[in-house]
Amino acid sequence: MGTVHVFDHPLIQHKLALLRDKNTATKDFRELVKEISMLMAFEATSNLPLKDVEVETPICKATMKMLEGEDIAIIPILRAGLGMVDGILALVPNAKVGHVGLYRDPETHLPVEYYCKLPADISKREIFVIDPMLATGGSAAAAIDFIKAKGGKKIHFLCLIAAPEGIEVLHNAHPDVNVYVAAKDSHLNDHAYIVPGLGDAGDRLYGTK
Ligand code: PRP
Ligand code: URA
Repeated sequence: MGTVHVFDHPLIQHKLALLRDKNTATKDFRELVKEISMLMAFEATSNLPLKDVEVETPICKATMKMLEGEDIAIIPILRAGLGMVDGILALVPNAKVGHVGLYRDPETHLPVEYYCKLPADISKREIFVIDPMLATGGSAAAAIDFIKAKGGKKIHFLCLIAAPEGIEVLHNAHPDVNVYVAAKDSHLNDHAYIVPGLGDAGDRLYGTK
């Protein structure tokens, strides 16, 4: 079974509290999503494999460590996942970026796919699927289904806020996927929104409501 890492670093919790505030404006919301994503990426990449490399400093030659490959793919789930991309790219600028387009049907709350474009060598890459919200877990599980169908293997899921229901669905569907969250919230309401959550992440990022 995959693991759930909750990042309770004070900076992340502080920024998350600002993000949740309904009075936080679109511009600030966007900046906070970027900053929290960057802080989370720092933690979530802490187990990436390293290799020995020979470096010549001005003083002498020495064996140092560098990332084994630059083989990372970031895959935002459209549209809200896009808000997390730049924060992660700030730390791993050579990562390739794929996209999976899904939206939740407002009546059924089930994910509907409308786009999928991944790096051609996706099967070799360490993959970080990103979306600010894990609510019922339907979108994340479906996105990872598509990624696996195209050859993706080493998959991590990063989100800002998760409901316990979504974590369970994702773990059952993809027990091999580790989940990284900034906060695990209480539950889902009758509209499958996370409580206390932050509302609709896509609308708050792009000012569409
Ligand atoms: C939101 C969010 C997730 C999904 C989570 O996207 O960004 O993708 O809902 O819900 P789930 O876990 O119940 O599937 P939404 O469908 O609102 O689309 P958007 O990103 O285009 O706004
Ligand atoms: N999607 C969101 O943007 N927010 C929620 O609380 C649930 C799904």
